[in-house]
Amino acid sequence: MLELSTNAPFAAIILPASSKTRTGSIRPVCGGALEDIVSLTPIGEPRHKITIATIREKKLRREPITCLTAYDYATARLVDEAGIDIALVGDSLAMTMLGYENTLSVTVDEMLHHVRAVRRGVKDALLIADMPYGSYQVDPKDAIQNAARFVKEGGAEAVKMEGGEKRADVIRRVIDAEIPVAGHIGLTPQSVNIMGGYKVQGKTLNAIEQLMRDAVALDRAGVACIYLEGIPREVAAMITVEVETPTIGIGAGPDCDGQVLVFHDLVNLTFGHPAKFVRRYGDAAALITQAVLAFKADVASHQFPNDAESYHLPKETQAALETVLLRKQALRR
Ligand code: KIV
Repeated sequence: MLELSTNAPFAAIILPASSKTRTGSIRPVCGGALEDIVSLTPIGEPRHKITIATIREKKLRREPITCLTAYDYATARLVDEAGIDIALVGDSLAMTMLGYENTLSVTVDEMLHHVRAVRRGVKDALLIADMPYGSYQVDPKDAIQNAARFVKEGGAEAVKMEGGEKRADVIRRVIDAEIPVAGHIGLTPQSVNIMGGYKVQGKTLNAIEQLMRDAVALDRAGVACIYLEGIPREVAAMITVEVETPTIGIGAGPDCDGQVLVFHDLVNLTFGHPAKFVRRYGDAAALITQAVLAFKADVASHQFPNDAESYHLPKETQAALETVLLRKQALRR
């Protein structure tokens, strides 16, 4: 029989000593023997936390996985509170938030600054942080150290790295260091100079074969999910069937296990012509511009702020002030 310990801030389900079944995180609390504690759930909080196990289960149940990028506290809260499964602090923030030309120049420290802000806004979504260019391609030790910074300093629950077969070894080493990794293949923006631009990948038989090898290598390495970017729908569908790992598409058609969009594309904050795969669900640029212009006009015409938007002195202070001013006036005469 299960026994529920109640004399501590956590409800710890204790298994009878004879039971052999054990799952979940194991920490000694409230007097239960270490090996007997199978679950630690804060009392009173319903658990909606998305983990890498949740997204695997979603693939098995054929329930679409949702992912949006989030780059700061406000977007993180909106994405999380809307019930999106994964908040991805993508290195696309190099362009959307920092105005760089591409993703290549953003640094680990710049990424961490945003990951920490998103961490403060996200409660339930799985938080994945992009490893920027140069932080994992050079030396596996650096890769592990940088990945660990995203977990320890940023609060990320997984990191994302671009590349397939050729990245499998370093990905395995990072996973061995207890850090879940998301893979990313197809149009990988950190390879823009090698690809000669942002071009749809996997259009020839050789390229399809390479993409399949990349996907299988990541699957075998044990990644948490695979982002498929900018590849033909037919190829994404084949990969999705082939691998056990959930696939999350962007410009990869509807047959992936999940879909991701860049938040700024979703709400028209990107200032350019959107790619074919982008669907704009809102026009934040129009909304913000309208608000900014209205503020400017109201200030210019003395309509903002009005009396109701101003603070006022208490009546007694007002009366006392008037007396003082009258006395001063009298003295000046
Ligand atoms: O950086 C990013 O936003 C990404 C997604 C587009 C997958 O990598």
